Amino acid sequence: MLNKLIASVIICTGLVACSSHGENPGIEYAPDMYYSKGYEPYSQMRHMAYNENGMTMRKPVIGSIARGQLDYIYKFPDTPEGYEASASNLNAVEATEENLMEGERLYNIYCWSCHGKEGKNDGPVITEGKFAKPPFANYQDPYIQNLPDGKIYHVITYGKNMMGSHAHMLTPTQRWQVIHHVKKLSKNAAPVVSSDSTAVAAQDSTTN
Ligand code: HEC
Repeated sequence: MLNKLIASVIICTGLVACSSHGENPGIEYAPDMYYSKGYEPYSQMRHMAYNENGMTMRKPVIGSIARGQLDYIYKFPDTPEGYEASASNLNAVEATEENLMEGERLYNIYCWSCHGKEGKNDGPVITEGKFAKPPFANYQDPYIQNLPDGKIYHVITYGKNMMGSHAHMLTPTQRWQVIHHVKKLSKNAAPVVSSDSTAVAAQDSTTN
């Protein structure tokens, strides 16, 4: 009887002591397997008093330029003149099937939320009224159809008015791939406003 009592007390204590709650991680078997020994970038290590906020890695100094992007910033600075000059910057990536597909994939991650999947400026950010509409109606607007690839690259790199820079999301190659997709959308016919399914199907076959 006494043995059973002692055993159940030990089990209960064990269950309570090992369980994790709040800030108590409980008893951990081999904590090395949960926590990296190496420092995680940008994580907080309070004892690193010499680094601001105890950060393990500091943010790059303001004005730091990523490798391989120095040329662009000098040639086409973030100024109205730089924007105009960027028209001469030709698409550095071939419009192969592969690049177009990758451009579409990236567009559907980074751009559709405002410009819409078909480039109609009907993405949720715009339709929910959180953002002012772009000044052009949609990508099928002659303004976008005639907009040089270089200028689009400039806008993706630096942003323009309400559109922020996407330079930290897309590598230079990826920007050119997305531009191929923007140009592809710009050549699509205007949307078919009809309940006639054959009309929609016909349009679909041209857009795919
Ligand atoms: C947060 C919403 C938003 C996102 C996300 C966004 N855009 Fe825009 N975009 C805008 C707005 C607003 C404008 C109009 C800027 C202006 O005032 O001329 C614009 C303008 C443009 C233009 C016209 C540029 C010019 O020179 O006039 C192009 C092309 C474009 N966007 C492509 C893209 C591509 C490609 C992406 C994804 C990499 C993207 N946008 C992501 C909101 C957005």
